[in-house]
Amino acid sequence: MSEARAGEPPARRPRIGLTGGIGSGKSAVADMLREWGAAVIDADAVAHELTASGGGAIEAIRAAFGEALITADGALDRARMRELAFADPAQRARLEAILHPLIGARLRALARTLPGPYVVLVVPLLVESLARWRERVDRIVVVDCAPELQVSRVMRRSGLEAGQVRSILRAQATREQRLAAADEVIDNSADLDSLRRQALELHRRMLQRAQEI
Ligand SMILES: Nc1ncnc2c1ncn2[C@@H]1O[C@H](COP(=O)(O)OP(=O)(O)OP(=O)(O)O)[C@@H](O)[C@H]1O
Ligand SMILES: [Mg+2]
Repeated sequence: MSEARAGEPPARRPRIGLTGGIGSGKSAVADMLREWGAAVIDADAVAHELTASGGGAIEAIRAAFGEALITADGALDRARMRELAFADPAQRARLEAILHPLIGARLRALARTLPGPYVVLVVPLLVESLARWRERVDRIVVVDCAPELQVSRVMRRSGLEAGQVRSILRAQATREQRLAAADEVIDNSADLDSLRRQALELHRRMLQRAQEI
């Protein structure tokens, strides 16, 4: 750490992959860790940025798929993309072959440059592509609560109906699959104070690890 130049993050910092099902509390934990100084990177936000109007993936998508997947204002047409990916796995693989390297490169760049003693990658679907993420993070931290709590919290947050939230839940990895992949579990079945206490413990442990590297 002493070899890092002033003003630059050290070359190697501990990295957490933070995941959990929809509404489990990932963003709540990530916000706390960011507030305490961690370098927090949201994988979904990076993917969105790359495929927004003028984003770094648009030209490659246009070259591969023509205008069919691009909206009038030059962003990836997400509805069309979902239709295509659902209907044709080969097209889905083609699109992923374009997006994944670009997302990976951007995440690596942010993980190198964002200031903070350790890095938190927030990846909602980490367990769904576990092999890829295992090698990118040192520890997988899963935010966990009972599915019924996920449903009620998401309903309160978004106004979606229970059935809609449940169908999103069913499309994700199961609670058991996530827990099996976890190096550490944050139990978010109680109130936000309890979540904060656990997040603070994690933060302190990560500060300790950062010093040991
Ligand atoms: N312990 C808790 N008690 C009460 N409300 C909570 C608790 N934890 C999270 N919430 C609330 O539940 C909702 C879902 O939490 P959050 O947005 O952090 O989940 P998430 O895992 O990021 O979800 P998504 O996968 O949709 O991004 C939010 O409105 C949040 O404020
Ligand atoms: Mg979130």
